[in-house]
Amino acid sequence: MLRIAVVGATGAVGRECLKLLDRGTVPVGRVVPVASPRSLGRRPAAELGLSLAVDPMTTVEALDPRELDVAVFCAGAELSSREAERLAAAGVLVVDNTSAFRMRPDVPLVVPQVNPAALARRPAGNLVANPNCSTIQLVRALHPLHELAELEGVVVATYQAASGGGLHGLAELAGESARLLADPEAQGAPNGRFGQPLAFNLVPEIGLQDDTGLSHEERKLVREPRKILGLPDLRVSATAVRVPVFHCHSEAAHIRLRRPVSTAQVEQALADTPGLRVYRRSDAAPSYPMPRTVFADDESRALVHVGRIRVEPQDPRSVAVWIVADNLWVGAALNAVQIVELAVKYGWLS
Ligand SMILES: NC(=O)c1ccc[n+]([C@@H]2O[C@H](COP(=O)([O-])OP(=O)(O)OC[C@H]3O[C@@H](n4cnc5c(N)ncnc54)[C@H](OP(=O)(O)O)[C@@H]3O)[C@@H](O)[C@H]2O)c1
Repeated sequence: MLRIAVVGATGAVGRECLKLLDRGTVPVGRVVPVASPRSLGRRPAAELGLSLAVDPMTTVEALDPRELDVAVFCAGAELSSREAERLAAAGVLVVDNTSAFRMRPDVPLVVPQVNPAALARRPAGNLVANPNCSTIQLVRALHPLHELAELEGVVVATYQAASGGGLHGLAELAGESARLLADPEAQGAPNGRFGQPLAFNLVPEIGLQDDTGLSHEERKLVREPRKILGLPDLRVSATAVRVPVFHCHSEAAHIRLRRPVSTAQVEQALADTPGLRVYRRSDAAPSYPMPRTVFADDESRALVHVGRIRVEPQDPRSVAVWIVADNLWVGAALNAVQIVELAVKYGWLS
């Protein structure tokens, strides 16, 4: 039975990790919750109604690697850069949810449904990176289309929820929305979690822009799919937008394939892919996924939802799709737990 630390156990992703571990898909013996010194004394098992054996809350500095098999890091890239390698070097398998190690050539960047072979052997450095939330749902929809007719490029616009900004992001959107409803003339906070006021607004910049004008989030969307799909020359163009939605990221993706396809072929390839739910025009209304319906129940939160599937009649190599998934589950905690499940399945993590 595994001894697993969840670093960031009081946060938006960490709490979902604990809930998912409680579902019993991973052989967990003991969970060690880790947060900042501010949270010492908190009792996540009671707060979340877990039946797992959960240790008292501790800090990352106090973790003893000899007492752990796995550490899931979800407490920011700065903390991961500082502490994850110490544990990995001491033999703990680290699954990192942050951007700290994703593009390092020696660290596998894994979406279990897309590139499981990257974990066929234990990584030499004991580090596995979880991709960015928007990347995961994108590559899970792209992968079957690549197998169908080979990807040439993709243009994607994202519509990203406030939960991507963590618990503070969710609270900020709720508070600002209430203030604006009470007083439509009220000014939002320009220096909050999203850089600009998010309530009743759209913010087309997630993370700082580089010299070329790409935002941090857009850079991840360009680079990470290439590494995961093993397509270093894949053309990806991205515009990432924060929207005043509490949960679930949405994406409009325009995909260019190397061979012509029909809408029926695309729908079938997606429908045959485990973990995807396909919406067809002929389905009962609404015949497309939306953040609120995807967040409505656990079964839906665990899936990537694809609708508005169109092949351009004048250009049957061009496909458009609308992709929605829960960034906290599919885009973070569930992917991390499924990485641990995969390591157990491959037999090198017992
Ligand atoms: N939210 C998403 O959709 C998403 C998706 C993919 C990846 N991620 C990544 O996952 C990470 C966590 O995101 P989040 O949304 O869960 O953020 P969050 O809600 O703000 O939670 C942050 C967590 O980090 C903990 N923490 C902060 N400083 C710490 C320290 N010095 N030592 C130990 N723990 C510390 C916090 O503990 P306290 O409560 O004690 O402050 C809290 O548990 C980020 O790197 C983020 O980029 C997030």
